[in-house]
Amino acid sequence: MQVDSDTSVIARRKERLRSNRISGWHHHAVRTKDMTATRAFYEGVLQLPLVGTWTEAYDVIKQTPSNYVHCFFEVGDGSALGFFQFEEGMRDAPMPMPRDPYEHHVSLGVDTMETVDYFRKRIEEAGAPVEIVDHGYCYSCYTQDPNGMIVEISTIVPNGIEILEQSAQTAEADLENWLAGVREPNNKWRGKTKI
Ligand SMILES: [Fe+2]
Repeated sequence: MQVDSDTSVIARRKERLRSNRISGWHHHAVRTKDMTATRAFYEGVLQLPLVGTWTEAYDVIKQTPSNYVHCFFEVGDGSALGFFQFEEGMRDAPMPMPRDPYEHHVSLGVDTMETVDYFRKRIEEAGAPVEIVDHGYCYSCYTQDPNGMIVEISTIVPNGIEILEQSAQTAEADLENWLAGVREPNNKWRGKTKI
């Protein structure tokens, strides 16, 4: 099946996306103890501009006086990664971020595999750990930010729309099967993309 010639696949995808009331990420936020290092990573290495610095003197969640800065680093769709840094002594140290990507990670999307490699090189040059992973339906590199948060940079592979739309057709049945105990892997795409 060629996606470019299969207008029904594209139309189905467009209609599904269009009908979703949730239009995208607004932001994802975590605490940091070092906004300078965080900025150096997100703005300096990943080239996400700092577009918001909100300085606050009141903890709106705990309803107590506090002092913190809240910074937003902008992604190309207008969403952002947000970070809080509290004044020393205002709170305990931030909770450690999970070091296992199966526990938590965020993934930033880019257009092409070349762009994944572009950022892999920049991360390498910055001295941060980086690892490429071929998921079959997407191609990614993984690193850690200065807070220990695992950050993935992903792109769909050249025939990714076709793969994702095939998966969308069977996603419910595949889940039901797995929950019922079927353990047959269904990712036949890993290793198939020329890297
Ligand atoms: Fe991921």
